[in-house]
Amino acid sequence: MKRFIIALMILALTATSCSPTTSKTTQTTQNDTNPVIETIMSRRSIRAYKDQAVPREILQQIAECGINAPNGMNAQQWEVRIVDNAEWIASATKSYVESVKGTPSEKMVSGEGFKNMFRNAPAVIFIAHKPGRCTQVDCGLMAGNMVLAAKSLGLGTCCMMGPLGFFSTPEGKEFLSSMNLSEGYELLLSVGVGYPDEEPAAKPRNKEVIKFVE
Ligand SMILES: Cc1cc2nc3c(=O)[nH]c(=O)nc-3n(C[C@H](O)[C@H](O)[C@H](O)COP(=O)(O)O)c2cc1C
Repeated sequence: MKRFIIALMILALTATSCSPTTSKTTQTTQNDTNPVIETIMSRRSIRAYKDQAVPREILQQIAECGINAPNGMNAQQWEVRIVDNAEWIASATKSYVESVKGTPSEKMVSGEGFKNMFRNAPAVIFIAHKPGRCTQVDCGLMAGNMVLAAKSLGLGTCCMMGPLGFFSTPEGKEFLSSMNLSEGYELLLSVGVGYPDEEPAAKPRNKEVIKFVE
């Protein structure tokens, strides 16, 4: 019996030492079963939303996921402002529509289904940074966390830089000052958030850009 147990132990040891735990070829991908990967792969930019407000606790949670992103030297040179006030959004949009008359953006604001300047989102999260070596990357990672957190909670999002130019125009100044950003901070990115009313197909990605270096 003793000999049999020893033989079994030797067999088990040999088996584990011969099968590498990570193999380049045999490890399976988990797109179907891993919820994080599923969220990443199915997220799309949303530009049509249901007429349904997003609860503040959810917006807060998304923002907190944002500020948990990795950031250079943990300097956290960023600020977040959340606007879910329909009047604020409507009023900014009204001024924006006036300001883009006669410019290429006029087409976007007069298109079918246009509700507001934030690609129709009922809530917008503004990300500002104090410009520094890492801050644009930091804020991009923050936005990445936000869009994925939102997606996992059943919400749609769209990252937007387009509308931000408005906030440095004379018409946009009052809206910018209502954000009360700290001295030295500038708007970098906005993220529209709401309950999606469309399911756009994924835009093709070029996998050729990914290469292993041997
Ligand atoms: C930094 C950044 C700025 C963007 N600005 C805008 C924008 O101003 N308006 C817009 O409709 N989409 C904007 N987008 C969304 C992109 O168009 C979108 O992510 C891209 O087409 C890929 O589509 P997907 O997000 O559905 O995968 C922006 C995205 C990023 C990351």
